[in-house]
Amino acid sequence: MDTLVINGGQRLRGTVRISGSKNACLPIMAAAMLAEGPSTLHRVPALADIKAMAGLLGELGLRSDWQDDTLTLTVEDETPSHARYDLVRKMRASISVLGPLLAKRGRARVAMPGGCAIGARPIDLHLRGLEALGAQIELESGDIVATAGRLRGAEVYLGGPFGSSVLGTANIMSAATLAEGTTVIECAACEPELTDLADYLNAMGARVTGAGTPHVVIEGVEHLTGCEHTVIPDRIEAGTFMCAAAITNGEVHIDRVRLDHMMAVVDRLRAVGVIVEKADGGASVSSSRRLHAVETTTQPYPGFPTDLQAQLMALVCLADGNSVITEKVFPDRFMHVAELARMGAQIHKEGPTAIVTGCRRLVGAPVMASDLRASAALVLAGLAAGGQTIVNRVYHLDRGYERIEEKLVALGAEITRVST
Ligand code: EPZ
Repeated sequence: MDTLVINGGQRLRGTVRISGSKNACLPIMAAAMLAEGPSTLHRVPALADIKAMAGLLGELGLRSDWQDDTLTLTVEDETPSHARYDLVRKMRASISVLGPLLAKRGRARVAMPGGCAIGARPIDLHLRGLEALGAQIELESGDIVATAGRLRGAEVYLGGPFGSSVLGTANIMSAATLAEGTTVIECAACEPELTDLADYLNAMGARVTGAGTPHVVIEGVEHLTGCEHTVIPDRIEAGTFMCAAAITNGEVHIDRVRLDHMMAVVDRLRAVGVIVEKADGGASVSSSRRLHAVETTTQPYPGFPTDLQAQLMALVCLADGNSVITEKVFPDRFMHVAELARMGAQIHKEGPTAIVTGCRRLVGAPVMASDLRASAALVLAGLAAGGQTIVNRVYHLDRGYERIEEKLVALGAEITRVST
């Protein structure tokens, strides 16, 4: 198991290029099984989760051909329909194969995703939507067993207790492309990754309109044909590097970023005192020496993303005053709090809210990563801390950040990966 050893206190400088979006790639890769013929995807990041999805699709009859960051997916066998527990438990986004399997093959057996470090993650909205399209769904020894003739267009309301569901919207949108008639999704999630999925589906001949808004309409078609698609940049990776620049009082140019996908993030960073400006097809990020406390509530897009909550928390640990961070999407997503406290952070958690009292300095310590974004927050804290930080279980980080330590070293960080 690898660890990262960080000697903090270096100001980051230079340019970092953002990779393709993990959360856009995963549902797009699953939707490739809807197509006749190959799909070629560009800017696919080399991540553990992407490899896991390619492995799962391999078991479902899709061949993967890689050329650098270009992935071609070709359907070779349409008989398999079982997504095994052993694969699904490693990556919850495996649930994205459910809709495409049902729509294209009329049957699916997908292991129910189990528990997750960031909190309860039910899939009732996914199942509700697919049943509305005519699927019969049962739970059998921990597996969702679903069958359907040709799916039928329907009106689907996808609102849940925490708003809509990103992968739930992806599943229904993908499945409805081959349904008979028109599907209307109300209270659809609006994340840019879903607009990217709709662009890919439409390039294959689908008729999806309104993606990126709560009202999505899908007119079913007879079939889809594989296409070529370039994946959008990863806004969460970009936000993480913006926080890295700010927490080290650095000056970093972020290359290949879509600032239009990051309005809420940039708004909060500017409120902390971070300077974020459009520059040469990307953004330049630097911070004034004094960071200010802020109030932030995570929300579904276009609100502040839950996937940057931990990184923002690490940043405001060094701000003047008390910051208030409320987690409205995954109310229990605070595994990083106790680890940041090991580095001297002063954080008081009450239910879904954390009050962060800024301190002058963090101190290096051995810490334990618990999930993908929590591990990114610990790396940020380690970059700013005095002394040495050792981040354990970095396999969490490898799930969602491509070559993060190489990118950080190129910006002047002192960080090494140690394989134990
Ligand atoms: C996606 O997960 C992302 N994953 C997550 O990123 C991200 O945190 C999340 O959206 C929210 O933005 C991928 O895209 C692969 P949800 P998803 O269904 O779709 C509740 C990362 O770090 N809910 O939108 O699984 C749920 O419990 C990962 O890259 C229901 O109640 O999240 C949560 O509170 C972590 N019923 C809220 O909705 C359902 O059927 C949002 O979850 C589905 C969800």
